[in-house]
Amino acid sequence: MTAGPVAITGASGFLGSHLVDAALEAGLPVRGVVRRPEALHRAVPAARADLADEAALTRAFEGASAVIANAALGSWQGPLSRYLEVNVDGLGRTLRAAAAAGVRRVVLISTVAVHRTRLWGAVDEGSPLVGDARPWANPSDLTTDWRYALSKARGEALAWRLAEELGLDLTALRPGPVYGPRDPKLTPAMCRRAAAPVVWAPTLAIPFVHAADVARAAVAALSRPQSRGRAFLLAGPPVPLSQLLAHLRRAQGGAGLLLPVPLPLAVRYDTRAAAQVLGFAPRPWTEGWVDAAATLPGPTLPG
Ligand SMILES: NC(=O)c1ccc[n+]([C@@H]2O[C@H](COP(=O)([O-])OP(=O)(O)OC[C@H]3O[C@@H](n4cnc5c(N)ncnc54)[C@H](OP(=O)(O)O)[C@@H]3O)[C@@H](O)[C@H]2O)c1
Repeated sequence: MTAGPVAITGASGFLGSHLVDAALEAGLPVRGVVRRPEALHRAVPAARADLADEAALTRAFEGASAVIANAALGSWQGPLSRYLEVNVDGLGRTLRAAAAAGVRRVVLISTVAVHRTRLWGAVDEGSPLVGDARPWANPSDLTTDWRYALSKARGEALAWRLAEELGLDLTALRPGPVYGPRDPKLTPAMCRRAAAPVVWAPTLAIPFVHAADVARAAVAALSRPQSRGRAFLLAGPPVPLSQLLAHLRRAQGGAGLLLPVPLPLAVRYDTRAAAQVLGFAPRPWTEGWVDAAATLPGPTLPG
Protein backbone atom coordinates (compact mmCIF):
# COMPACT_ATOMS: atom_id res chain seq x y z
CA MET A 1 0.00 0.00 0.00
CA THR A 2 1.28 3.52 -0.81
CA ALA A 3 1.51 6.22 1.86
CA GLY A 4 -1.61 8.17 0.80
CA PRO A 5 -4.77 8.32 2.89
CA VAL A 6 -7.42 5.63 3.05
CA ALA A 7 -10.43 7.11 1.23
CA ILE A 8 -13.65 6.08 3.00
CA THR A 9 -16.95 6.63 1.21
CA GLY A 10 -19.93 7.25 3.49
CA ALA A 11 -17.55 8.31 6.30
CA SER A 12 -20.34 10.54 7.64
CA GLY A 13 -22.60 7.53 8.30
CA PHE A 14 -22.78 5.12 11.24
CA LEU A 15 -20.32 2.41 10.19
CA GLY A 16 -18.28 5.02 8.26
CA SER A 17 -17.58 6.88 11.51
CA HIS A 18 -16.15 3.68 13.02
CA LEU A 19 -14.08 3.02 9.88
CA VAL A 20 -12.54 6.48 10.31
CA ASP A 21 -11.75 5.73 13.97
CA ALA A 22 -10.29 2.29 13.22
CA ALA A 23 -8.03 3.64 10.45
CA LEU A 24 -6.76 6.44 12.71
CA GLU A 25 -6.27 3.93 15.53
CA ALA A 26 -4.09 1.87 13.15
CA GLY A 27 -2.03 4.98 12.38
CA LEU A 28 -3.38 5.41 8.83
CA PRO A 29 -4.23 8.81 7.39
CA VAL A 30 -7.87 9.13 6.37
CA ARG A 31 -9.93 11.03 3.79
CA GLY A 32 -13.69 11.06 4.23
CA VAL A 33 -15.45 10.92 0.86
CA VAL A 34 -18.84 12.35 1.68
CA ARG A 35 -21.74 14.45 0.50
CA ARG A 36 -21.75 16.55 3.68
CA PRO A 37 -18.30 17.10 5.28
CA GLU A 38 -20.06 18.89 8.17
CA ALA A 39 -21.66 15.54 9.14
CA LEU A 40 -18.30 13.86 9.87
CA HIS A 41 -18.08 12.97 13.56
CA ARG A 42 -14.50 14.20 13.82
CA ALA A 43 -12.32 16.66 11.92
CA VAL A 44 -10.54 14.65 9.24
CA PRO A 45 -9.64 15.72 5.68
CA ALA A 46 -12.67 15.34 3.42
CA ALA A 47 -13.58 15.38 -0.26
CA ARG A 48 -17.13 15.99 -1.42
CA ALA A 49 -18.62 13.42 -3.80
CA ASP A 50 -22.00 11.82 -4.45
CA LEU A 51 -22.01 8.24 -5.74
CA ALA A 52 -23.87 9.63 -8.77
CA ASP A 53 -20.81 11.66 -9.82
CA GLU A 54 -17.92 9.53 -11.10
CA ALA A 55 -15.70 12.53 -11.89
CA ALA A 56 -16.06 13.84 -8.32
CA LEU A 57 -15.29 10.35 -6.95
CA THR A 58 -12.17 10.15 -9.12
CA ARG A 59 -10.97 13.51 -7.80
CA ALA A 60 -11.75 12.39 -4.26
CA PHE A 61 -9.63 9.24 -4.65
CA GLU A 62 -6.56 10.95 -6.19
CA GLY A 63 -3.44 10.08 -4.18
CA ALA A 64 -5.27 7.61 -1.89
CA SER A 65 -3.59 4.34 -0.89
CA ALA A 66 -6.89 2.44 -0.75
CA VAL A 67 -10.64 2.92 -0.96
CA ILE A 68 -13.13 1.54 1.52
CA ALA A 69 -16.40 1.43 -0.45
CA ASN A 70 -18.84 1.79 2.42
CA ALA A 71 -21.47 4.29 1.22
CA ALA A 72 -24.83 2.72 0.43
CA LEU A 73 -28.53 3.11 0.91
CA GLY A 74 -29.36 1.09 4.06
CA SER A 75 -32.39 -1.16 4.49
CA TRP A 76 -36.02 0.07 4.42
CA GLN A 77 -35.26 3.36 2.66
CA GLY A 78 -36.93 3.49 -0.73
CA PRO A 79 -38.08 1.82 -3.94
CA LEU A 80 -36.02 -0.83 -5.74
CA SER A 81 -35.02 1.64 -8.49
CA ARG A 82 -33.33 3.88 -5.91
CA TYR A 83 -31.52 0.88 -4.37
CA LEU A 84 -30.20 -0.18 -7.76
CA GLU A 85 -29.12 3.37 -8.58
CA VAL A 86 -27.08 3.80 -5.36
CA ASN A 87 -25.99 0.30 -4.33
CA VAL A 88 -25.25 -1.08 -7.82
CA ASP A 89 -24.61 1.82 -10.24
CA GLY A 90 -23.09 4.04 -7.53
CA LEU A 91 -20.78 1.23 -6.43
CA GLY A 92 -19.77 0.63 -10.06
CA ARG A 93 -18.83 4.33 -10.34
CA THR A 94 -16.84 4.05 -7.11
CA LEU A 95 -14.75 1.18 -8.47
CA ARG A 96 -14.21 2.80 -11.86
CA ALA A 97 -13.21 6.03 -10.13
CA ALA A 98 -10.73 4.14 -7.93
CA ALA A 99 -9.13 2.61 -11.02
CA ALA A 100 -9.09 5.97 -12.83
CA ALA A 101 -7.38 7.57 -9.83
CA GLY A 102 -4.75 4.83 -9.82
CA VAL A 103 -5.95 3.15 -6.59
CA ARG A 104 -5.78 -0.64 -6.73
CA ARG A 105 -6.79 -1.69 -3.23
CA VAL A 106 -10.52 -1.67 -2.48
CA VAL A 107 -12.39 -3.04 0.53
CA LEU A 108 -16.12 -3.29 -0.08
CA ILE A 109 -18.60 -3.19 2.79
CA SER A 110 -21.18 -5.71 1.66
CA THR A 111 -23.64 -7.45 4.02
CA VAL A 112 -24.75 -10.90 5.23
CA ALA A 113 -28.02 -10.04 3.48
CA VAL A 114 -26.40 -11.04 0.16
CA HIS A 115 -26.92 -14.63 1.37
CA ARG A 116 -30.27 -16.33 1.53
CA THR A 117 -31.31 -16.41 5.18
CA ARG A 118 -31.06 -19.82 6.83
CA LEU A 119 -32.82 -20.53 10.06
CA TRP A 120 -30.94 -23.74 10.73
CA GLY A 121 -27.27 -24.54 10.14
CA ALA A 122 -24.62 -21.89 9.57
CA VAL A 123 -24.13 -19.76 6.46
CA ASP A 124 -20.56 -19.59 5.17
CA GLU A 125 -19.04 -17.51 2.38
CA GLY A 126 -19.92 -20.20 -0.18
CA SER A 127 -23.60 -20.43 0.80
CA PRO A 128 -26.28 -19.47 -1.76
CA LEU A 129 -26.71 -15.80 -2.58
CA VAL A 130 -29.91 -13.83 -3.01
CA GLY A 131 -31.04 -14.09 -6.61
CA ASP A 132 -33.38 -12.13 -8.81
CA ALA A 133 -36.41 -14.29 -7.93
CA ARG A 134 -39.13 -12.30 -6.16
CA PRO A 135 -39.25 -12.80 -2.37
CA TRP A 136 -42.38 -14.90 -2.45
CA ALA A 137 -40.39 -17.49 -4.44
CA ASN A 138 -38.29 -18.09 -1.33
CA PRO A 139 -39.95 -17.37 2.03
CA SER A 140 -36.58 -16.89 3.78
CA ASP A 141 -36.11 -13.70 1.73
CA LEU A 142 -39.05 -12.20 3.61
CA THR A 143 -36.88 -12.01 6.75
CA THR A 144 -34.86 -9.09 5.29
CA ASP A 145 -35.59 -6.01 3.17
CA TRP A 146 -35.47 -7.82 -0.15
CA ARG A 147 -34.85 -4.69 -2.27
CA TYR A 148 -31.83 -3.82 -0.14
CA ALA A 149 -30.55 -7.42 -0.16
CA LEU A 150 -30.95 -7.72 -3.92
CA SER A 151 -29.18 -4.41 -4.57
CA LYS A 152 -26.27 -5.36 -2.29
CA ALA A 153 -25.99 -8.82 -3.91
CA ARG A 154 -25.99 -7.30 -7.41
CA GLY A 155 -23.57 -4.60 -6.23
CA GLU A 156 -21.12 -7.16 -4.86
CA ALA A 157 -21.36 -9.26 -8.04
CA LEU A 158 -20.63 -6.16 -10.13
CA ALA A 159 -17.70 -5.30 -7.86
CA TRP A 160 -16.11 -8.72 -8.45
CA ARG A 161 -16.57 -8.35 -12.23
CA LEU A 162 -15.08 -4.85 -12.27
CA ALA A 163 -12.18 -5.87 -10.03
CA GLU A 164 -11.27 -8.49 -12.60
CA GLU A 165 -11.69 -6.09 -15.53
CA LEU A 166 -9.90 -3.12 -13.95
CA GLY A 167 -7.17 -5.03 -12.10
CA LEU A 168 -8.33 -4.03 -8.60
CA ASP A 169 -7.39 -5.95 -5.44
CA LEU A 170 -10.83 -6.39 -3.90
CA THR A 171 -11.92 -7.75 -0.53
CA ALA A 172 -15.64 -7.93 0.32
CA LEU A 173 -16.77 -7.88 3.95
CA ARG A 174 -20.26 -9.09 4.82
CA PRO A 175 -21.30 -7.83 8.27
CA GLY A 176 -24.35 -9.03 10.18
CA PRO A 177 -26.76 -6.55 11.81
CA VAL A 178 -24.46 -3.82 13.15
CA TYR A 179 -24.93 -2.06 16.52
CA GLY A 180 -22.82 0.43 18.45
CA PRO A 181 -22.33 4.10 19.29
CA ARG A 182 -23.72 6.60 16.73
CA ASP A 183 -26.14 4.02 15.31
CA PRO A 184 -29.33 5.91 14.47
CA LYS A 185 -31.48 2.78 14.01
CA LEU A 186 -30.97 -0.67 15.54
CA THR A 187 -29.25 0.29 18.83
CA PRO A 188 -31.73 2.97 19.95
CA ALA A 189 -34.65 0.82 18.74
CA MET A 190 -33.52 -2.14 20.91
CA CYS A 191 -32.95 0.12 23.91
CA ARG A 192 -36.38 1.72 23.54
CA ARG A 193 -37.93 -1.72 23.28
CA ALA A 194 -36.09 -2.93 26.40
CA ALA A 195 -37.44 0.09 28.30
CA ALA A 196 -41.14 -0.61 27.65
CA PRO A 197 -43.18 -1.61 30.74
CA VAL A 198 -44.24 -4.87 29.09
CA VAL A 199 -42.06 -6.50 26.44
CA TRP A 200 -42.86 -9.51 24.28
CA ALA A 201 -39.55 -10.86 23.04
CA PRO A 202 -39.00 -13.84 20.76
CA THR A 203 -36.20 -16.24 21.64
CA LEU A 204 -35.09 -16.07 17.98
CA ALA A 205 -31.29 -15.59 18.02
CA ILE A 206 -29.69 -12.83 15.89
CA PRO A 207 -25.93 -12.49 15.14
CA PHE A 208 -25.43 -8.78 15.98
CA VAL A 209 -21.94 -7.38 15.47
CA HIS A 210 -20.35 -4.26 16.98
CA ALA A 211 -19.46 -1.52 14.46
CA ALA A 212 -15.94 -1.10 15.87
CA ASP A 213 -15.26 -4.83 15.41
CA VAL A 214 -16.35 -4.63 11.76
CA ALA A 215 -14.26 -1.50 11.23
CA ARG A 216 -11.12 -3.10 12.73
CA ALA A 217 -11.51 -6.08 10.40
CA ALA A 218 -11.88 -3.73 7.41
CA VAL A 219 -8.70 -1.89 8.32
CA ALA A 220 -6.88 -5.18 9.00
CA ALA A 221 -7.82 -6.29 5.47
CA LEU A 222 -5.81 -3.37 4.06
CA SER A 223 -2.56 -4.80 5.40
CA ARG A 224 -3.26 -8.52 4.83
CA PRO A 225 -2.54 -9.60 1.25
CA GLN A 226 -4.19 -12.99 1.93
CA SER A 227 -7.54 -11.17 2.11
CA ARG A 228 -7.40 -10.06 -1.55
CA GLY A 229 -9.92 -11.66 -3.88
CA ARG A 230 -11.98 -13.04 -0.97
CA ALA A 231 -15.24 -12.36 0.84
CA PHE A 232 -15.57 -12.64 4.64
CA LEU A 233 -18.57 -12.90 6.92
CA LEU A 234 -18.37 -10.69 10.03
CA ALA A 235 -21.02 -11.53 12.64
CA GLY A 236 -21.28 -12.19 16.34
CA PRO A 237 -22.64 -15.37 17.89
CA PRO A 238 -26.45 -15.48 17.67
CA VAL A 239 -28.05 -13.87 20.74
CA PRO A 240 -31.69 -14.63 21.60
CA LEU A 241 -33.61 -11.34 21.40
CA SER A 242 -35.30 -12.14 24.72
CA GLN A 243 -31.87 -12.46 26.41
CA LEU A 244 -30.57 -9.26 24.86
CA LEU A 245 -33.61 -7.23 25.97
CA ALA A 246 -33.51 -8.73 29.47
CA HIS A 247 -29.81 -7.89 29.70
CA LEU A 248 -30.34 -4.28 28.60
CA ARG A 249 -33.12 -3.89 31.21
CA ARG A 250 -31.03 -5.38 34.02
CA ALA A 251 -28.04 -3.22 33.09
CA GLN A 252 -30.05 -0.15 34.09
CA GLY A 253 -31.86 -1.75 37.01
CA GLY A 254 -35.11 -1.63 35.08
CA ALA A 255 -38.25 -3.46 36.18
CA GLY A 256 -41.38 -4.53 34.32
CA LEU A 257 -42.56 -7.62 32.56
CA LEU A 258 -40.51 -9.41 29.90
CA LEU A 259 -42.37 -12.25 28.25
CA PRO A 260 -40.22 -14.56 26.09
CA VAL A 261 -42.04 -15.93 23.07
CA PRO A 262 -40.57 -19.34 22.16
CA LEU A 263 -39.12 -19.27 18.65
CA PRO A 264 -36.17 -21.67 18.90
CA LEU A 265 -34.34 -20.59 15.75
CA ALA A 266 -30.94 -18.97 15.27
CA VAL A 267 -29.39 -17.11 12.35
CA ARG A 268 -25.78 -18.22 12.39
CA TYR A 269 -22.72 -17.27 10.31
CA ASP A 270 -19.41 -19.08 10.10
CA THR A 271 -16.75 -16.43 10.77
CA ARG A 272 -13.71 -18.72 11.00
CA ALA A 273 -12.17 -17.32 7.79
CA ALA A 274 -12.43 -13.74 9.10
CA ALA A 275 -10.91 -14.80 12.41
CA GLN A 276 -8.01 -16.52 10.70
CA VAL A 277 -7.20 -13.97 7.99
CA LEU A 278 -8.38 -10.66 9.52
CA GLY A 279 -8.03 -11.40 13.23
CA PHE A 280 -11.79 -10.76 13.57
CA ALA A 281 -12.80 -11.25 17.20
CA PRO A 282 -16.25 -9.92 18.09
CA ARG A 283 -16.42 -8.47 21.61
CA PRO A 284 -18.75 -10.15 24.13
CA TRP A 285 -22.28 -8.94 23.32
CA THR A 286 -23.06 -8.40 27.01
CA GLU A 287 -20.40 -5.67 27.19
CA GLY A 288 -20.83 -4.29 23.69
CA TRP A 289 -24.55 -3.60 24.05
CA VAL A 290 -24.31 -2.02 27.49
CA ASP A 291 -21.48 0.25 26.32
CA ALA A 292 -23.43 1.21 23.19
CA ALA A 293 -26.62 1.89 25.19
CA ALA A 294 -24.65 4.15 27.53
CA THR A 295 -23.75 6.44 24.60
CA LEU A 296 -27.39 7.15 23.74
CA PRO A 297 -28.63 10.62 24.64
CA GLY A 298 -31.28 10.83 27.38
CA PRO A 299 -32.80 8.06 29.47
CA THR A 300 -33.59 5.08 27.24
CA LEU A 301 -33.97 2.44 29.89
CA PRO A 302 -36.07 2.36 33.03
CA GLY A 303 -34.27 2.69 36.33
N1 LIG B 1 -26.07 -0.99 9.68
C1 LIG B 1 -26.10 -2.31 9.46
O1 LIG B 1 -26.73 -3.08 10.21
C2 LIG B 1 -25.32 -2.89 8.30
C3 LIG B 1 -25.22 -4.31 8.21
C4 LIG B 1 -24.48 -4.86 7.17
C5 LIG B 1 -23.89 -4.03 6.22
N2 LIG B 1 -24.05 -2.68 6.30
C6 LIG B 1 -23.42 -1.86 5.27
O2 LIG B 1 -22.60 -0.89 5.91
C7 LIG B 1 -22.48 0.28 5.07
C8 LIG B 1 -22.76 1.52 5.90
O3 LIG B 1 -24.09 1.44 6.41
P1 LIG B 1 -24.56 2.27 7.69
O4 LIG B 1 -25.37 1.37 8.51
O5 LIG B 1 -23.41 2.97 8.27
O6 LIG B 1 -25.56 3.29 7.00
P2 LIG B 1 -25.65 4.89 7.10
O7 LIG B 1 -25.42 5.34 8.49
O8 LIG B 1 -26.95 5.24 6.44
O9 LIG B 1 -24.45 5.39 6.22
C9 LIG B 1 -24.51 5.34 4.82
C10 LIG B 1 -23.53 6.34 4.26
O10 LIG B 1 -23.61 6.28 2.83
C11 LIG B 1 -23.74 7.59 2.33
N3 LIG B 1 -24.48 7.63 1.08
C12 LIG B 1 -25.72 7.10 0.84
N4 LIG B 1 -26.08 7.38 -0.43
C13 LIG B 1 -25.06 8.07 -0.98
C14 LIG B 1 -24.83 8.66 -2.26
N5 LIG B 1 -25.74 8.59 -3.24
N6 LIG B 1 -23.66 9.31 -2.48
C15 LIG B 1 -22.73 9.42 -1.50
N7 LIG B 1 -22.88 8.90 -0.27
C16 LIG B 1 -24.04 8.24 -0.02
C17 LIG B 1 -24.48 8.37 3.41
O11 LIG B 1 -24.24 9.74 3.22
P3 LIG B 1 -25.16 10.89 3.89
O12 LIG B 1 -24.65 10.96 5.33
O13 LIG B 1 -24.84 12.10 3.08
O14 LIG B 1 -26.56 10.42 3.76
C18 LIG B 1 -23.84 7.79 4.67
O15 LIG B 1 -22.63 8.46 4.95
C19 LIG B 1 -23.43 0.04 3.92
O16 LIG B 1 -22.70 -0.42 2.80
C20 LIG B 1 -24.38 -1.04 4.43
O17 LIG B 1 -24.93 -1.79 3.37
C21 LIG B 1 -24.74 -2.09 7.33
